[in-house]
Amino acid sequence: MKQFALRFPGSPPRTTRIHVGRRLFARIAADLAERPIAERYFVVSDSRVGALYAADLLQALARAGLRADRITFARGEAAKTPRTKQRIEDRLLALGAGRDCAILALGGGVTGDLAGFVAATWHRGVPFIQLPTTLLAMVDASIGGKTAINLERGKNLVGAIHQPHAVYADIATLDTLPDPIYRDGFAEIVKGGVIADAPLFRWLEANAKGLLARRGNLVTEAVVRSVRVKARIVRRDERESGRRAILNFGHTVAHALEIVSNYRMSHGCAVAIGMAVEARLAVAHAGLSEATATRIVATLQAFGLPTAIPRNVSLARLRAATHRDKKARAGRARYALPVALGRMSPGVRVTTTVDDRDVLAALRASRETG
Ligand SMILES: NC(=O)c1ccc[n+]([C@@H]2O[C@H](COP(=O)([O-])OP(=O)(O)OC[C@H]3O[C@@H](n4cnc5c(N)ncnc54)[C@H](O)[C@@H]3O)[C@@H](O)[C@H]2O)c1
Repeated sequence: MKQFALRFPGSPPRTTRIHVGRRLFARIAADLAERPIAERYFVVSDSRVGALYAADLLQALARAGLRADRITFARGEAAKTPRTKQRIEDRLLALGAGRDCAILALGGGVTGDLAGFVAATWHRGVPFIQLPTTLLAMVDASIGGKTAINLERGKNLVGAIHQPHAVYADIATLDTLPDPIYRDGFAEIVKGGVIADAPLFRWLEANAKGLLARRGNLVTEAVVRSVRVKARIVRRDERESGRRAILNFGHTVAHALEIVSNYRMSHGCAVAIGMAVEARLAVAHAGLSEATATRIVATLQAFGLPTAIPRNVSLARLRAATHRDKKARAGRARYALPVALGRMSPGVRVTTTVDDRDVLAALRASRETG
């Protein structure tokens, strides 16, 4: 097992311990028995992950003498709502939870965001632990403390920054992940290499086959290296007032694709296509070489990810949707663009405004053909 600490400055400084390894449930229970963070624990998970793993986790916690209960909600992005949050809180009340409890968020990014937000507001904030079970949640959603729910008008509109006490990424849970959801995670992993870690990018190019075949040591290494990239970035800018915005490479177009597809396109697929489009913009606006843009696209394809905008998506609607991105200012979309492999534009003003005509040209050039 690999273990490291993510320290946030401030007073008092806070630390999140991150653990990456296989079969970690007994370890979590032992850690909590040795250094309890609450009197009672609530394992929150969606219906699928709950059926697969909640009983094992509860058993491990019980064996360590810890009092724990389980709360389950319907799976899928559609559940990340105020209504589900309210239901979880009603269950907490019914189970007699007070302020001396902690939440264990066992699942993908939806569970982490939702259960994390419950923890952020329950009795004005109780500790929580992230137990991510998708690749995307391991390398991205569980790191950095962003929690949120969706409103009808948009994603993640209500939330809080609430750092988890610890993160346990149990690689063994990925064994039950369906292929498309597993592949999705590589969009963010490739992104990490492009924005801040050129050696990671080259390692991904060399190991795509083994990673897709889920070779254990390779998967653990990919998670550890990606978590380190994200941890390095968020540690310096917890509230995204500057540098953290480099994490948005590919995301202006990705969020627009999610909006126009009514969230039917998965986040990983949207980010992969978004990076392909924004790599084109980076060639025109940030001095990225054509050859590097081509390598980025080829690597995403090597992971089985899409890089072209589906033919049924209206480019005009897509361009309009880029203006709804949270980075947009005065009606103009902003982009976080790489200047070279592993390097984004320097300084704190990370994002660039791109003329709408250039955006449309890049969208056209990235359109599915045939
Ligand atoms: N907080 C952040 O910084 C951040 C960053 C990126 C994404 N997100 C959020 O993450 C969410 C997407 O995360 P996701 O892709 O993990 O979605 P998800 O949580 O919905 O998981 C995807 C599907 O996989 C299933 N699943 C999860 N783990 C499994 C396992 N081990 N075996 C079998 N099935 C399993 C789930 O039941 C679900 O059906 C979005 O809501 C997004 O906004 C948050």
